[in-house]
Amino acid sequence: MTKNITWHKGKVSYSDRCNNLGQEGMVLWFTGLSGAGKSTIAVEIEKKLVKQGKAVYRLDGDNVRHGLNSDLGFTAEDRNENIRRVAEVAALFKDAGLITLASFISPYQEARNFARERAGADNFMEIYVKADVEACAERDPKGLYEMAKAGEIKNFTGISAPYEVPENPDLVVDTVELSVEEAVAKVLEAIDERQAEI
Ligand code: PPS
Repeated sequence: MTKNITWHKGKVSYSDRCNNLGQEGMVLWFTGLSGAGKSTIAVEIEKKLVKQGKAVYRLDGDNVRHGLNSDLGFTAEDRNENIRRVAEVAALFKDAGLITLASFISPYQEARNFARERAGADNFMEIYVKADVEACAERDPKGLYEMAKAGEIKNFTGISAPYEVPENPDLVVDTVELSVEEAVAKVLEAIDERQAEI
């Protein structure tokens, strides 16, 4: 923690912001292998929620790495820093009252736990987008698995870098079993339930 800094309290509270928006702030954290369907599902959910008049914002690994995290690669250390920064951003968006959709491989449980802690457990859902490495390599939408297997990409999750399966996710969406529409419906239902609970 930097020295000599003091928290400057505002005059508008989290509940003031939520009352204006008519919703609770949330962080939906999508984790899973490359090609599991994290971004595809988040994009559809964002579209559906915006249509319902909700205030939503989507954070995506590929996109955030173009700007805020363009200095980071794929070592364990860089991935943890990537998730640490995004967890902080997502917690701020939640505090702003937004429904925040974060799609990151986020291969380490400890980093995902940190994201939960920063957003507050009641307002956070860890969603495991489940598809095994064989299915993802078969889909290979960006040709990355082929390159990783050929040794052209180092530290590739599932091939030459680890992925820790969520220990206690709030929701599992199996994209080998479910269509995109079914997966989206399952997540939307879980969001509705949680919004009613908070
Ligand atoms: S992480 O692990 O959470 O820090 O990764 P993330 O920020 O989500 O970025 C994943 C996307 O980066 C591309 N890519 C790689 N993924 C995994 N391993 C390696 N080595 C790698 N190099 C590039 C890839 O397009 C990932 O996007 P998704 O959407 O997951 O396929």
